[in-house]
Amino acid sequence: MTYPLIHKRVVRCYGFYDYLRDNKILQKEMTTLVFASNNAHKLDEIRSILGDRFMIKSLKEIGCDADIPETADSFRGNALLKARYVKEHFGYDCFADDSGLQVSYMDNLPGVYSARFAEKFAGQLGIDKDSLPEEKDKRNMECLLRSLNNNNAFAEGNSPKACFRTSIALIYEGGEYFFDGVVEGHIIADARGTSGFGYDPIFVPDGYDKTFAQLGNEVKNSISHRARAVSKLVEFLKK
Ligand code: IMP
Repeated sequence: MTYPLIHKRVVRCYGFYDYLRDNKILQKEMTTLVFASNNAHKLDEIRSILGDRFMIKSLKEIGCDADIPETADSFRGNALLKARYVKEHFGYDCFADDSGLQVSYMDNLPGVYSARFAEKFAGQLGIDKDSLPEEKDKRNMECLLRSLNNNNAFAEGNSPKACFRTSIALIYEGGEYFFDGVVEGHIIADARGTSGFGYDPIFVPDGYDKTFAQLGNEVKNSISHRARAVSKLVEFLKK
């Protein structure tokens, strides 16, 4: 059966728009949004949550192979730098994320330096870089644990408080928006578990007695900083 083309605004006036759209009588509009990332896992996740109202493109798909500088001193700042870069150079509406671990005992380090913590801070913290493991995640974790140990942070069975934080910056229809997600917990002295990545083996979220690396992806993804920030973004975009 064919239907006459009805202007969306007219249809909306009569309150039928959602009905027509949901029943595939009106063609859905697709909005293109760039996610300033090439991380396949993050891209799949956001595409499956947003469904077919949004066409999500990666940096690669828009021909951007730049190493976008992340020189801000906050997660929001770095996310916004990436989103603005895409908007300015490629013209697309865009969102970008930045995440990391913050340990209160260390004035919120590793923070925005989470991915390159050992490289940047080992020397300052009095830790010999050559004595750290080769692999990046292990290197960063070991650097953090040694530094906490050197400062007696685990003395008398203490577990230093920490949180993972994600900020997403969105540039959309002329506005700039932020969505933050946090998961609180503590750091343990010995790594446990094998799933996940980064600092997962030494982070125990509040309400649990296992590390993210022991809890596995399903549990982690239901409570993680990233999941919390993404769900705020999705709620906003689906309005
Ligand atoms: P990104 O901004 O998501 O790329 O994260 C930057 C760095 O923060 C990563 O390289 C990890 O070291 C750390 N990080 C961020 N999220 C997590 C997480 O969920 N688990 C463990 N480490 C994380």
